[in-house]
Amino acid sequence: MAAAAAAAAAAAAALLACLLLSRAGAGMAGDEAREAAAVRGLLSRLLGARAAAGFSVSVNRSLAPRPGADTFRLSGGGGGDPVQVAGSSGVAAAAGLHRYLRDFCGCHVAWSGAQLRLPDPLPAVPEPRTESTPNRYRYYQNVCTQSYSFVWWGWARWEREIDWMALNGINLALAAVGQEAVWRRVYLTLGLNETEIDEYFTGPAFLAWEHMGNLHSWGGPLSSSWHRKQSSLQYQILERMRSFGMKPVLPAFAGHVPKAFTRVFPQANVTHLGMWGHFNCTYSCSYLLAPEDPLFPVVGSLFLRELTQEFGTDHIYSADTFNEMEPPSSEPAYLAAATAAVYEAMIAVDVDAVWLLQGWLFQHQPDFWKPPQVKAVLKAVPLGRLLVLDLYAESKPVYSRTDSFYGQPFIWCMLHNFGGNHGLFGALDAVNRGPSDAWLFPNSTFVGTGIVPEGINQNEVVYALMAELGWQKGPLPDLGAWVAGFAAQRYGTPHSHAEAAWKLLLQSVYNCSGDLCTGHNRSPLVKRPSLHLDISVWYNRSDVFEAWRLLLEAAPVLASSPAFRYDLLDVTRQVAQELVSLYYEELRTAFEAGAMPALLTAGGLLVFDLLPSLDELLASDERFLLGAWLEQAREMAVSEAEAWQYKQNALYQLTLWGPTGNILDYANKQLAGLVAGYYAPRWKLFVEMLVKSLAEGTPFHQNQFESEALLLGQNFVLGREKFPTQPQGDTVDLVKKFFLRYYPRYQAGAV
Ligand SMILES: *[C@@H]1O[C@H](CO)[C@@H](O)[C@H](O)[C@H]1NC(C)=O
Ligand SMILES: *[C@@H]1O[C@H](CO)[C@@H](O)[C@H](O)[C@H]1NC(C)=O
Ligand SMILES: *[C@@H]1O[C@H](CO)[C@@H](O)[C@H](O)[C@H]1NC(C)=O
Ligand SMILES: *[C@@H]1O[C@H](CO)[C@@H](O)[C@H](O)[C@H]1NC(C)=O
Ligand SMILES: *[C@@H]1O[C@H](CO)[C@@H](O)[C@H](O)[C@H]1NC(C)=O
Ligand SMILES: *[C@@H]1O[C@H](CO)[C@@H](O)[C@H](O)[C@H]1NC(C)=O
Ligand SMILES: *[C@@H]1O[C@H](CO)[C@@H](O)[C@H](O)[C@H]1NC(C)=O
Repeated sequence: MAAAAAAAAAAAAALLACLLLSRAGAGMAGDEAREAAAVRGLLSRLLGARAAAGFSVSVNRSLAPRPGADTFRLSGGGGGDPVQVAGSSGVAAAAGLHRYLRDFCGCHVAWSGAQLRLPDPLPAVPEPRTESTPNRYRYYQNVCTQSYSFVWWGWARWEREIDWMALNGINLALAAVGQEAVWRRVYLTLGLNETEIDEYFTGPAFLAWEHMGNLHSWGGPLSSSWHRKQSSLQYQILERMRSFGMKPVLPAFAGHVPKAFTRVFPQANVTHLGMWGHFNCTYSCSYLLAPEDPLFPVVGSLFLRELTQEFGTDHIYSADTFNEMEPPSSEPAYLAAATAAVYEAMIAVDVDAVWLLQGWLFQHQPDFWKPPQVKAVLKAVPLGRLLVLDLYAESKPVYSRTDSFYGQPFIWCMLHNFGGNHGLFGALDAVNRGPSDAWLFPNSTFVGTGIVPEGINQNEVVYALMAELGWQKGPLPDLGAWVAGFAAQRYGTPHSHAEAAWKLLLQSVYNCSGDLCTGHNRSPLVKRPSLHLDISVWYNRSDVFEAWRLLLEAAPVLASSPAFRYDLLDVTRQVAQELVSLYYEELRTAFEAGAMPALLTAGGLLVFDLLPSLDELLASDERFLLGAWLEQAREMAVSEAEAWQYKQNALYQLTLWGPTGNILDYANKQLAGLVAGYYAPRWKLFVEMLVKSLAEGTPFHQNQFESEALLLGQNFVLGREKFPTQPQGDTVDLVKKFFLRYYPRYQAGAV
């Protein structure tokens, strides 16, 4: 039995590799030339045409020691010779280029910007350097990233992201854009009318949850111009991903249908799923088509045929039927049928289909997903045809309690961040060991690594490490040395204070473990106030203050680096959130002791000093502006009415999430405009109500505070205020001012 399972497991990985490689043979020379050209394009975008001329890029599949083992080779350079970058695929060549830029030129490329000061002439590669990744796949994206981070992007930003993906060796990624346009056609074909379709789609900022059957209608409808723009974007995205040799993962039918489906097909056997995320059935409780209903394959095949005819295919499809949704039955036979129906509809259109499944559900509702239920799903699809993302493997791995997904291949994924929250956070030690532990697991079906944050644009060090691990055969030997190198590349020059600061961050905020390590920023700054907030953290706050001091001391040397300014601001932001905890503790203690002067002092400092200073600081950097996020949304709109809808989508997502604070502050961010316009007024209201309660000798009513706070939030979201899209003030000056004001409080032992 065990031997059979092991043999099956080994067969699974092999089968999967074969399935996916069989197509790589077709038109190989042409593909190689196309992929090399894509990397040359990337080089020019990144470095400019002149510097790009110093490189010679080639792609040759034979570089790989075995098919699919992506490999790059660096050589040449020096004495006017071009640096030779060869890869077994475009992605491998791009990863090789990135290696050269980091290790030989001391450069750095990240979401917040790039440090690309090249030595002149380009350094030679003294000994040819070859690296092969042990990971068949390096995957990127969470279904939610689409909504939390990419939703308003046009092609220019997408292009930069796909370049980032290539440089980090990503070869498998979701391509979810534009699917609603295809669904719309399918629903029309099935007999739904425009009104019914409009009533079904969510707004742009909530589409991720519509894709998983969690939500419908909220923030919608979608306009025809939205559909048009997203479709044409999808063409560009797919074309570019494929040109690098990446595999885009297209969506498939998971079983959810609009309510109006039952008008057209009154006989259809649909189940009303339960509520999700504190939404009532106005916006959640989707309809799930029963697996044995003859319409299931009809809808599933219609969609996939329409989609692949339009966009082509790389034969990997994503679908999530029960993501955070309790299935109508826990009978293994039902779960197997529901799973098989999705797969059957895929292979009816594409015999080579492989299903990419987010394994989130298994760890999210462990009480429901016991071994028989998990097994029912995983075994309903032939081995090798289900590729499972172990989505939160750095914290709650599923492979280890399912005998490696009962033989289905899986990708070890680092989720790291929920909702794209700011807040310095990470578990670098655990992440560093994670993939190799998974690989070494008995009879492992591990086939790669994944980067799957719900939102990007935060904690770049964590993602730099994970991308690095995509090309490593084991953990990095010395994380301290690695962060020192990271800082030097990021700022363009080594600096002892910056290095010391990063080592402090590594041992504190970036060494998270235990129950406090949740992937959410739990700071009172971004939480709805109450007298019962938990301000405990897993690290020594002193380390953050000392890292802050050290970075500021490095400012005279490093201030010209945009990445340094970003980090200096980000660490100051972190200090501000530590200080909010401090003042919160003071005002709670004062209130409980009935000490009015102390309450007024702490409350006054928090509301009239600390939070406004933080907002002013954030306003000095375009990467921390609410206005910049809203401007992206506005640029996607074609009319004032649409601009208004998108603005509300964009603001709701960051704050109330739903009309009545349904998933309040889940996707909190610390942006200029949001701190002053949303968090600060809420704290002010809280402090005022505490003061009033103390002055009048009446109890503080949390419920009353919450209803008033909800009104504040709604007014903020529905307000007409315009937020700056350009930074104001000098970050370093403002940080100095902040330091002079607040560092003494830390020194005085208040923290
Ligand atoms: C792994 O597979 C081998 C057979 O190849 C089997 O003997 C062994 O028990 C399996 N180990 C585990 C932990 O399942
Ligand atoms: C690719 O590499 C192989 C083995 O080194 C070589 O025989 C072949 O000519 C190369 N292909 C091209 C197009 O350079
Ligand atoms: C769509 O169908 C519904 C239900 O029959 C109807 O009330 C509505 O007017 C129709 N809308 C359009 C645009 O035909
Ligand atoms: C559901 O929520 C919406 C908006 O929050 C509200 O207007 C509606 O009355 C609620 N419906 C039910 C059935 O509770
Ligand atoms: C409807 O689907 C459910 C779930 O698959 C199944 O148990 C039930 O028997 C079906 N009902 C009919 C009338 O076919
Ligand atoms: C992280 O914490 C663990 C203990 O939980 C410790 O063993 C390890 O050395 C720490 N790592 C760093 C980089 O400080
Ligand atoms: C935190 O770090 C400071 C400075 O290194 C040290 O004095 C203090 O004892 C530490 N606190 C704890 C709880 O470890």
